[in-house]
Amino acid sequence: MSQIRDINLAPSGERKIQWVERNMPLLRQIKADFEKTKPFAGLKVALSVHMEAKTAYLCRVMEAGGAEMHVTGCNPLSTQDDVAAALAAGGMDVNAWHAATPEEYTSHLTAVLEAGPNIIIDDGGDLVNLIHTKLTHLIPNIIGGCEETTTGVIRLNSMAAEGKLAFPMITVNNARCKYLFDNRYGTGQSVWDGINRTTNLIVAGKNVVVAGYGWCGKGIAMRAKGFGAHVIVTEIDPVKALEAMMDGFKVMTMEDAAKVGDLFVTSTGCRDVITEKHFTLMKDGAIMCNAGHFNVEVDVDWLDKNAKDRYVQRQNIMGYTLENGKNVFVLAEGRLVNLASGDGHPAEIMDMSFAIQALSARYLAEHRDELRAGVIAVPEEIDDEVARRKLTACGLSIDSLTDAQKEYLASWEL
Ligand SMILES: NC(=O)c1ccc[n+]([C@@H]2O[C@H](COP(=O)([O-])OP(=O)(O)OC[C@H]3O[C@@H](n4cnc5c(N)ncnc54)[C@H](O)[C@@H]3O)[C@@H](O)[C@H]2O)c1
Repeated sequence: MSQIRDINLAPSGERKIQWVERNMPLLRQIKADFEKTKPFAGLKVALSVHMEAKTAYLCRVMEAGGAEMHVTGCNPLSTQDDVAAALAAGGMDVNAWHAATPEEYTSHLTAVLEAGPNIIIDDGGDLVNLIHTKLTHLIPNIIGGCEETTTGVIRLNSMAAEGKLAFPMITVNNARCKYLFDNRYGTGQSVWDGINRTTNLIVAGKNVVVAGYGWCGKGIAMRAKGFGAHVIVTEIDPVKALEAMMDGFKVMTMEDAAKVGDLFVTSTGCRDVITEKHFTLMKDGAIMCNAGHFNVEVDVDWLDKNAKDRYVQRQNIMGYTLENGKNVFVLAEGRLVNLASGDGHPAEIMDMSFAIQALSARYLAEHRDELRAGVIAVPEEIDDEVARRKLTACGLSIDSLTDAQKEYLASWEL
């Protein structure tokens, strides 16, 4: 029995799903394959991924492969109630609504796990965490799972290092066809979509501070430059900091950046990146948002407790008046701005990420008797297959090596 806001919203959600389907050619092909081969026949899949249209289409692809789907979101603000309704109207077990309280969010995760899944599709590691802490009786039935994002992979690596990971988990995030495109170009575009639609302000000429120059940060900084911003990068890794410098960006500490920034975007996967000591240095009107998985990068808790005044300035913009009289603003409660205040990555990007998800889940099902507990890389052939299919879908052809070239590349003598 689904737990959603309103089943009457289903027609609007259905149109959103149709729109992404039209723009996700790889998933359409995979769905057609799965309809014939039914790789998940007899298997239950628990999925926790941002519950919006692209994810909904992934759910349908898995269902076409014979999976019994039990699905929820992975962030209380990214769930779109009409999309959840459309899936539920089609008979899927959906447990998610927009703006769930922390208790409701956990109860939704628990509900999909109570179905007794065989395969887990996680985004950020919340399902895996719950299974290993509170629902350990589920472990014997679990073949394995797939993890979508950097933060989830970090959590899995920590569990594996402590010998606590009880089943195989494929690190979808670390496939080249995922992070090179989703984290960089997907986040690069969708973060600015979220910021622009929420603020309705110009980016050109502003000092934009990007915290973290990893795959997401590179995309966010690159697109900020395209908009005409003066981009400043903060980092803790000296190599990434140098890379940012060579890419043409200013590099400084957050303490220095806080004094000059107009708009701050965090994407580190770390906590306490912008805190009290930075807020008090900021210019009046400074705007902050986050693109990292969890809402711990900007210390919104401190602002909530210590600001002199707290007010809703605009939808998804919270204003805070500090003791020093200045006002600072936080978008989407410091949750990932592209999903909590937007529709997430473009469909064509998620086509690749979710193609890797679907094919990795099939790999788990097909190799269920061989795989051991632990962190597993996406097999190279899946990465290559997704790249080849995407090139074809884009109408592009590439060269292949001649025999003479292969021989040349394999030789070492002059
Ligand atoms: N918003 C989205 O749609 C989306 C998409 C993909 C990933 N993510 C999330 O974004 C975050 C970053 O992912 P990524 O793939 O770019 O990771 P990454 O590991 O490639 O990059 C993170 C960077 O942040 C730097 N960093 C860490 N702590 C820092 C600190 N305190 N101050 C400054 N820099 C710091 C690291 O040195 C690293 O260069 C993760 O939480 C990930 O799960 C979000």
